Amino acid sequence: MKNNIIKKIKKKRITIGIIGLGYVGLPLARTFSKKKINVIGFDIDKKKIKKLRKGISYINYFNNNDIVQMNNNFACYSTFEKISVCDAVILCLPTPIKKNRSPEMKYINNSMKLIKKFLKNNQILSLESTTYPGTSEEVILPYLKRFDLGKNFFLIYSPEREDPGNKKFSNEKIPKVVGGYTKNCLMVGYELYKLMGTKIVKVSSLKVAEMTKLLENIYRSVNIGLVNELKLLCQKMKINIFEIIDAAKTKPFGFQPFYPGPGYGGHCIPIDPFLLSWKAKKYNFQTKFIELSGRINEKMPIIICDKVKQFLKHKKQKKCLIIGVAYKKNVDDMRESPSLKIIEHLEKNKIICDYYDPYITEIGYLRKFSKPKKSIKLNSKNLRKYNIIILATDHDSINYNFLKKNSSMIFDCRGRYSYSKNHNIIQL
Ligand SMILES: NC(=O)c1ccc[n+]([C@@H]2O[C@H](COP(=O)([O-])OP(=O)(O)OC[C@H]3O[C@@H](n4cnc5c(N)ncnc54)[C@H](O)[C@@H]3O)[C@@H](O)[C@H]2O)c1
Repeated sequence: MKNNIIKKIKKKRITIGIIGLGYVGLPLARTFSKKKINVIGFDIDKKKIKKLRKGISYINYFNNNDIVQMNNNFACYSTFEKISVCDAVILCLPTPIKKNRSPEMKYINNSMKLIKKFLKNNQILSLESTTYPGTSEEVILPYLKRFDLGKNFFLIYSPEREDPGNKKFSNEKIPKVVGGYTKNCLMVGYELYKLMGTKIVKVSSLKVAEMTKLLENIYRSVNIGLVNELKLLCQKMKINIFEIIDAAKTKPFGFQPFYPGPGYGGHCIPIDPFLLSWKAKKYNFQTKFIELSGRINEKMPIIICDKVKQFLKHKKQKKCLIIGVAYKKNVDDMRESPSLKIIEHLEKNKIICDYYDPYITEIGYLRKFSKPKKSIKLNSKNLRKYNIIILATDHDSINYNFLKKNSSMIFDCRGRYSYSKNHNIIQL
């Protein structure tokens, strides 16, 4: 059985089903489709399916042209019958945390319930969502009881490491970590992901693969927390953290630069570390680094708001413009974005907040703002209306010289002007 599926994979005579066509699933579909493999995408969001069928993208760094080209060997559905014609099924579903910071597994459970009856012998099932070690065995395995895993069905976990908007590292260039439930599962998983044309890193178990992804994201969260804390100290000491980081990164080993900012955002760094904290509690273990960096990073938007409030204290008009509401530059994703927290907090304090973001034309449906907001036009007339501009997300397409020339005061949370001595720039 294993040899048959491996033969099929090697000849590229397989169909890959991808469930969840979001920031992870859609680029993955494109990667396989580019390698001339038949791909079927599935998503419960009918609007996304409709757009894809019309060749329209819903991700800013993904061209309509990419969709049109993909459509040669890509089909997509909001129902799941076609799972039965797939040789491999890859789950790219959300794995958020609940308010109490326990993992929200409903997307995976709902999906497994929907596809269970269409699964059949000799298929491969791979989870790519970021999750706590043990998820594949504890959450997915119970739906696969009728199969003989490693013999007539293959369960693997391979974390997605995509960096949205990063042109240097598309997912064809990022090594893929793969773990299998059995040795045969791993062998099949290895061949499947080799089709992407990237380096495959085999690990000994599903749990090791699950934990690898968490280590990567926790490493980021902890280092961002560290540098955010040091930024605040450096400010008191009147030394420039960006100059320090630039000097430190000349060391050719043992140092990787991380930069301070307005806090952290996205579907990964503010969430994933807590998936592990939750699991660690089951082992009576406290993950102190995760908790501490989380506290520091979450405090950053409030620190910014306090400084803005201080600046506006004696001003008659209190109007501020946030530049960038995406959680990081060059993307249109505002999940967990610190900018939204800043707007919410300032508005609660009766400070009028508008925003500009080249990728996000409207906000208001994610959080309860006083009114839905539309991105303003970035021109000199508009810029003059605000007492202060908060540079929260430094998209590359923004003209920073223009911004500096036409703003009365810029509160730079990203260090875009870190070496500039202008009187109208305050550093975070
Ligand atoms: N976005 C990133 O940068 C990134 C990077 C690496 C890993 N990840 C991880 O990958 C996973 C997916 O993240 P994402 O950013 O692509 O999320 P997303 O929200 O952009 O996409 C998830 C998609 O799944 C769909 N969906 C939800 N329930 C479904 C169901 N039952 N059946 C079919 N489709 C369903 C949603 O409609 C949505 O389109 C998460 O675990 C995330 O942590 C994300």
